[in-house]
Amino acid sequence: MKRFELLATTMANEIRSGSRPIGSRMPSLRQLTTQHGVSQSTVFRAYYLLEEWGLIRARERSGYYVAPGAAPEQRQSTRLPPTLESAKVEISDLVFSVLEAAKHPDIVPLGSAFPSPQLFPLQRLAKSLAHASRLISPWSTVADLPPGNEQLRRQISLRYMGMGIAQPMEEIVVTNGALEALNLCLMAVTRPGDVVAVESPGFYAALQAIERLDLRAVEIPVDPVSGVDLQALADALDKHPIRACWFMTSFQNPTGAAMPQDKKKALVELLAQHDVPLIEDDVYGELHHAAASPLPAMAFDKKGLVMHCSSFSKTLAPGYRIGWVAAGRFTDKVQRLKLMTTLSASIPAQAGIADYLQHGGYDKHLRKLRGSLRIQLAAMDSALRRWMPDDARWTLPSGGYFLWVRLPSRVDAMTLHRLAIESGISIAPGPVFSATHAFQDHVRLNFGHPWGDRMENAVKTLGSLLERACD
Ligand SMILES: Cc1ncc(COP(=O)(O)O)c(C=O)c1O
Repeated sequence: MKRFELLATTMANEIRSGSRPIGSRMPSLRQLTTQHGVSQSTVFRAYYLLEEWGLIRARERSGYYVAPGAAPEQRQSTRLPPTLESAKVEISDLVFSVLEAAKHPDIVPLGSAFPSPQLFPLQRLAKSLAHASRLISPWSTVADLPPGNEQLRRQISLRYMGMGIAQPMEEIVVTNGALEALNLCLMAVTRPGDVVAVESPGFYAALQAIERLDLRAVEIPVDPVSGVDLQALADALDKHPIRACWFMTSFQNPTGAAMPQDKKKALVELLAQHDVPLIEDDVYGELHHAAASPLPAMAFDKKGLVMHCSSFSKTLAPGYRIGWVAAGRFTDKVQRLKLMTTLSASIPAQAGIADYLQHGGYDKHLRKLRGSLRIQLAAMDSALRRWMPDDARWTLPSGGYFLWVRLPSRVDAMTLHRLAIESGISIAPGPVFSATHAFQDHVRLNFGHPWGDRMENAVKTLGSLLERACD
């Protein structure tokens, strides 16, 4: 992709995600040349392209403005009317069958939840692991028991500080990936039969945890651009004795939605009024495509009610299974549950990641990773435009590596999933993201893999399978 195409795609993403509202003035040539380190002619060509795509319009002697109608294509109606009933959840069989089908390495991983291992600094990480392992004291088996390796918690706490959040390392508990952190938090604040608010569509593991712990779910609709519907949440809080919320506020899985900062603050305030804990799943927070890192909702928490969960699985070290929770007022409870369930996260893996964070150049790696994801998103977007029918819709996310695609309504995502697997391609069909198996005409596609003929052909094949997947 040429420089001007990359710049145009970045700005198109900003327009389509709503961060550049309709009617707003686009930056001047001078601003863009300085900001992106490109020539004026690159900016000109990028603006011509955006004009061609119908996203901006020139006004005489006044510059470029976001065109009316630039965003609606992205504002797909994935929102369900809020039913706001609480329900028992039975999702596991469906999820397991979809995960199983996608496991084979020859399958093109459009349904995968991970980015390509090629994007991680595995050699450098191995060096840190070897170095740290040599220095491990026999006593660390005991010393690194929960809350976990001190160096690692200090490094994590420093990363919070980098975002302007004062997060004491004493309140950070290291876990086996974010998934364990999320599950421990849920256990810490609920008992069987309790009601938990989750997103719809939402990460299937939240539904599985609810199923396993014999809880009930209230599904709150998610806007694919701005995240959870706060009015629907307020109604649900009035109607049900909700004991906890499990939400993603940045780059939600599967929609890619990112709550604006004000909305995160409003969410935290709403929950504080009801004294309801928020389990914040932020595994993709570091994978923002824009320059700045979004603040998590926990940044606005004054009551210790937000448990902020994340990990290195999506950003650095997929197989190491190291995650954490900053658990606020629930720290002791989470720590005890960790001890009672899996005792500890791997001691060498904790030490290895701590060493990498200190010496390995994590921020440099993240910048590179984000750059790759931006390019891959542009390529996936172009491929979808080429191979999907006109009435397919998707929302360009401003972070992460998922595209949530609404297929023509007559297409059944589960049938498409079956046909795609037969053709050697995995997709994540919409029904796995909802307790009621809704979103039958949606799929989540992963663009976390370097682009090439294999990916392009997979999207082309999906397009050609749509007719056969109609019900
Ligand atoms: C939204 C979300 N949260 C949490 C996890 C689990 O993260 P980890 O691999 O660190 O346990 C995943 C993994 O797919 C995810 O997509």
